[in-house]
Amino acid sequence: MDHFQYRNGALHAEDVALSEIAASVGTPFYCYSTATLTRHYSLFTEALSPMPHLVCFAIKSLSNVAVLKLLGDLGAGMDVVSGGEYRRALAAGVSPDKIVFSGVGKTAEEMRLALTHGIRQFNVESEPEMRALSAVAVEMGKIAPITIRVNPDVDAKTHEKIATGKKENKFGIPISRAVEVYAEAASLPGLQIVGIDVHIGSQLTELEPFEQAYKKVAELTETLRAAGHTITRLDLGGGLGIPYERSNTAPPLPLEYGALIQRTLGHLGCEIEIEPGRLISGNSGVLVSKVIYVKNGEDRDFLILDAAMNDLVRPSMYGAHHDILPVVEPAPATEAQPYDVVGPVCETGDTFAKARDLPPLVAGDLVAFRSAGAYGAVMASEYNSRPLIPEVLVRGDQFAVIRARPSYEEILNRDTIPEWL
Ligand code: LLP
Repeated sequence: MDHFQYRNGALHAEDVALSEIAASVGTPFYCYSTATLTRHYSLFTEALSPMPHLVCFAIKSLSNVAVLKLLGDLGAGMDVVSGGEYRRALAAGVSPDKIVFSGVGKTAEEMRLALTHGIRQFNVESEPEMRALSAVAVEMGKIAPITIRVNPDVDAKTHEKIATGKKENKFGIPISRAVEVYAEAASLPGLQIVGIDVHIGSQLTELEPFEQAYKKVAELTETLRAAGHTITRLDLGGGLGIPYERSNTAPPLPLEYGALIQRTLGHLGCEIEIEPGRLISGNSGVLVSKVIYVKNGEDRDFLILDAAMNDLVRPSMYGAHHDILPVVEPAPATEAQPYDVVGPVCETGDTFAKARDLPPLVAGDLVAFRSAGAYGAVMASEYNSRPLIPEVLVRGDQFAVIRARPSYEEILNRDTIPEWL
């Protein structure tokens, strides 16, 4: 359930017509719904309510500071993977003791930043990282709380580019070596072991891979405790998928996911941390774009939009499907026709959908890509010198631009011509 619905024939974000926002900010733009963000965050807190827990929003999925403030004010923690994301969490007013730091390549500088302002824990991904963190903490006279991310060698059954829990993936340490790595961690100065971390992939549409991974984590918790380690937190990562295609069967619900966590790990008495991104932000956002031309090709019609792969890269990068809705609701008997939906960027990969059935559209019509809140704006680039598009947040009948479209002057001013040229 999200808050992008037709009302009186016009697609709305909550109580605001998307056409009204388009008239005010221009197209293309991203638009997020506070009600949907709030609801999806609450689904997780409800699902985990039988256990002590912290829901840490994966900032990488949608990093606008206004969105982070909204979630932070609801009580969310944050999962960050860079100094930049860490700074965003702080800028949103999130308390450092609710920020977890993930990622395979944390630099000494990022470690220093987090240790200076405070951190709930580092999710350490390798032995060299663990030794580097120990050295940084000692040099600063601090203690770094850590979990170690284990790689359980489980097939997440998702797109290969976003599966992370197989042994051939770069993430975590092999779970088979966990005992010796935890022993070394315990012997290093400046580190305090607080738990175990696991994350097997993104856009998972079944519970079974989670179950396999979490059972291994349960076993490891017992083993590590028997070896004398204090394991009080289990960070279970993110990854629960969303229904991108309304026509497909829906992935499991957060409530079922919570029940699985309770069943596999509840008996251990640990605080459960999860790092969902997509399920909170994905269906909370749409990308609104305008038809520039309808071009009749030899054997197909192209819908050429003013949004392109640089604004929403998921279709060209992962072959991802996003539902596309006309912003003006088609009359009931309207016959759909197939379009190849493309952007203006100069490569064939700039294709959002092929042979997509849509009502007849003409230049100037608006369309909305659904489920674009996660990994949309954050993955955008200025390829083809197209300015990053604005982000808009809606609450009830109000909306605000939460990131403005940069001017061409701002863009050009970032480049400098050396004086010797
Ligand atoms: N925690 C860690 C350590 C992660 O690496 C990720 C996602 C998450 C949490 C959040 O996962 P989520 O709940 O959002 O599935 N750009 C890709 C997705 C990359 C996911 C990377 N890691 C896409 O557009 O599908």
